[in-house]
Amino acid sequence: MRTFPPYRIQVVKEIPITTREQREEALARAAYNTFDLPSNMVTIDLLTDSGTGAVSAAQEAAAAQADRAYAGSDAYYRFRAAVDDLTSYPHTFPVHQGRAAERVLFTSVLKPGQISVSNTHFDTTRANVELLGAEARDLPCAEFADLDSREPFKGNIDLAALEQTLAGPDGERVGQVLVTITNNGGGGQPVSMANLKAVRELCDRYGVPFFLDAARFAENAWLVVRREPGYGHLTPKQVAQEAFALADGCVASLKKDGIAPMGALIGVRDPEIAKRCEVNLIATEGFRTYGGMAAHDLERVAQGLEEVIDPHYLASREADAAHFADLVTQAGVDIVQPSGMHALYLNAGRLLSHIPPSGFPGHALACELYLAGGVRCVELGSLYLGGFDENHNLVTPAPFELVRVAIPRRTYTQAHLEYVADVLADIAKDPSRVASYRVVDAPPLLRHFNLKLERIPAGS
Ligand code: F0G
Repeated sequence: MRTFPPYRIQVVKEIPITTREQREEALARAAYNTFDLPSNMVTIDLLTDSGTGAVSAAQEAAAAQADRAYAGSDAYYRFRAAVDDLTSYPHTFPVHQGRAAERVLFTSVLKPGQISVSNTHFDTTRANVELLGAEARDLPCAEFADLDSREPFKGNIDLAALEQTLAGPDGERVGQVLVTITNNGGGGQPVSMANLKAVRELCDRYGVPFFLDAARFAENAWLVVRREPGYGHLTPKQVAQEAFALADGCVASLKKDGIAPMGALIGVRDPEIAKRCEVNLIATEGFRTYGGMAAHDLERVAQGLEEVIDPHYLASREADAAHFADLVTQAGVDIVQPSGMHALYLNAGRLLSHIPPSGFPGHALACELYLAGGVRCVELGSLYLGGFDENHNLVTPAPFELVRVAIPRRTYTQAHLEYVADVLADIAKDPSRVASYRVVDAPPLLRHFNLKLERIPAGS
């Protein structure tokens, strides 16, 4: 039996249909930076799964009656109840989005010169660590290096490297271990419960706090149910509860698995850390019962957290991603295997082997997807992770040249994803036509968002 989404579509939004000529013009005006495209020039927007999910009738009904009291609103207590149902943290705070949660928590935990160790820090997470004068160190597991292998938990942290770091000369400086579930910077791959338990054990042994970046906690829990021996009989909610229980706290952008346009969460056990977070939150985000979130978003999140953990919803989301992945690989475009849930990561380096890293094959593929089909997505390769000199020339390429094609929750049907696979299939018929790019301007921090590029026509 096929799976199907446990909802029907009751409100829809029209999407722009454009010509290649119009897209050529729009992309040139955006200096070939897909972040600078106006969305009314984008047909299928797969730039992110963050804040782009479709809300349910129940979420909108809750939002409409949200209590906007400054302190202690009903909306806050519903948010609290939904969060307490999943996490066992005695101190939880709403925050307007994930990066604000990171700033508030890290400011309360890390000191300059300390190290934050992770499976992979998301880009804003890394920036928030570095802005505090601390170091963000990624220790992804070795299995991730083989993009084609079908190991089930390629999002794991490298336990041997973590132990070496904690026991070695840098051990004293480790201020936190942060495990991102699922590992967005590492191919969207899940983290096993065995890995989380081992991290807990190491953090206890070396006296270091262990936090989760739980933006996609429900999808991670579902992939544990599906892939990890000993968990198949549990519900995704039980697995999520167990994961949260293993850590000393979490930050979680609720724009992903809260299925809300805006919102995030900080949870901690330690009362001293909680006090510091609270002061910082009140001074910079908002009072502790709204933390920068509007009451209607507190309500949407409270309802979204119940809907996201439904096994029928998660099964259908996994099936959509797997179907999309099958079509894309049949079209001759390799992806990071096995496919996860929130995105496909296309192996652009392999598809566009005529473009060297200095011509940015990942970015070239992202631009071609837009030009050929009006599909927006983002490069995760040398443009994002590489080292540059002062003239914007690439000096250290990234280990992989990928493109992330994110899948917003409940937003596009299989037909939309099939269309994207068709566009890719067309590109894959003659990849040598695809042009490369050169950087003409780039800021030193968060380069990805503010780049300006030029196209170098294929064959020149
Ligand atoms: N952590 C992870 C793992 C994320 O994926 C994101 C956002 C954040 C933290 C920051 O949360 O956006 O609410 O401030 N990821 C989005 C993405 C932007 O496209 O992957 P935020």
